[in-house]
Amino acid sequence: MSLTVLSVVGARPQLVKLAPIASALAAEGHRHVIVHTGQHYDADLSDVFFTGLGIPDPDVHLGVGSGSHGVQTGAVMAALDPVLEAERPDWVLVYGDTNSTLAGAVSAVKQHLPVAHLEAGLRSFNRRMPEEHNRVLTDHAADLLLAPTKEAIRHLAAEGLGGRAVLTGDVMVDVCLRVRDAVLGGGAAEPALPEGIDPAQPYLVATLHRAENTDEPERLALLGEALANLPTQVALLAHPRLLARADQHGIKLGRGAVCVGRPLPYAGLVAAVLGSRGVVTDSGGLQKEAFLLGRPCTTLRTETEWPETLEGGWNELVPNPAALGQARWTAIATRSAPDTPRGTPYGDGRAAEAAVRALVEHSR
Ligand code: UD1
Repeated sequence: MSLTVLSVVGARPQLVKLAPIASALAAEGHRHVIVHTGQHYDADLSDVFFTGLGIPDPDVHLGVGSGSHGVQTGAVMAALDPVLEAERPDWVLVYGDTNSTLAGAVSAVKQHLPVAHLEAGLRSFNRRMPEEHNRVLTDHAADLLLAPTKEAIRHLAAEGLGGRAVLTGDVMVDVCLRVRDAVLGGGAAEPALPEGIDPAQPYLVATLHRAENTDEPERLALLGEALANLPTQVALLAHPRLLARADQHGIKLGRGAVCVGRPLPYAGLVAAVLGSRGVVTDSGGLQKEAFLLGRPCTTLRTETEWPETLEGGWNELVPNPAALGQARWTAIATRSAPDTPRGTPYGDGRAAEAAVRALVEHSR
């Protein structure tokens, strides 16, 4: 059976997840319509992923851009309506937990189109996070829930959604391992680390972009200070949101141990993590990439949607570095990789094929 699947994407992590799905759909001869909402529009956050990961160009670009949650979500919905009406796909596929995800799901159910949610069932149980609203609402709207982990399946079952859930594994594994092999095989360029980082000396890769870390000036200043005071070089790959907020509040990020650079294309990021001593981040994707690439991760949050990474000390949650004292904070952030086995909680790297099979099996 050949399906028409319409993917709604818009933000950087969704483009990474789109790559293996686009290849798996193409391999099975399905028609794939890619709609880019325009939530991310800077080349560093969008275009480089299409070229770097070999994703076909979007068929439709909604050009929505930034805005408050309501404005952004509403603008995507308004712009999607005529596209969905014209295409009437067999599935609308939405990815992850951004405002584009929620908008895609709501628009589709309103038009009685079947919706599948890739990366369903993740929960932080922190209702202050915009991503948590987006995940919960999308899961409850969707007809098919493609869950990356057993834990995600448990969350869905607890919310009465187990009947619509399928365990596929995590598509991030598909793409991360493929790119890792290309990087290790010499098929990719050296990472463009921020100016000032000596790659011959140990360094940490750091990112910070979540609203709860960037939008309160005191919190952002505290985190900037904690990174600056580390005794190891810190390559801070800065999301535009971080730069905008730091600028707005007069916080200087590039000082002490920290050298600030631009976000990297995917292969560059994988190479940067492979060359690093470890990762300090608030990104969900990067926590998992560090885990898959065998680098210790320190997560600047109170909780994680990826608790499997915490097993064996591969990932450590540090909600507030200042509360730990300098010695303890340094010891955690610069620790060596543990020697505990990581197992394969995210699957075997064939999640996209499993997701496409589930779309075929569950299509009406
Ligand atoms: C969004 C997602 C978040 C995801 C992240 C990945 C929501 C609510 N959040 O956060 O879940 O982890 O993407 O990166 O959907 N900006 C630019 N250029 C761009 C895009 C954004 O300068 O191309 C700046 C703007 O100042 C904008 C701000 O970043 O206001 C925030 O962008 P937004 O799309 O609202 O959320 P992200 O922080 O990127």
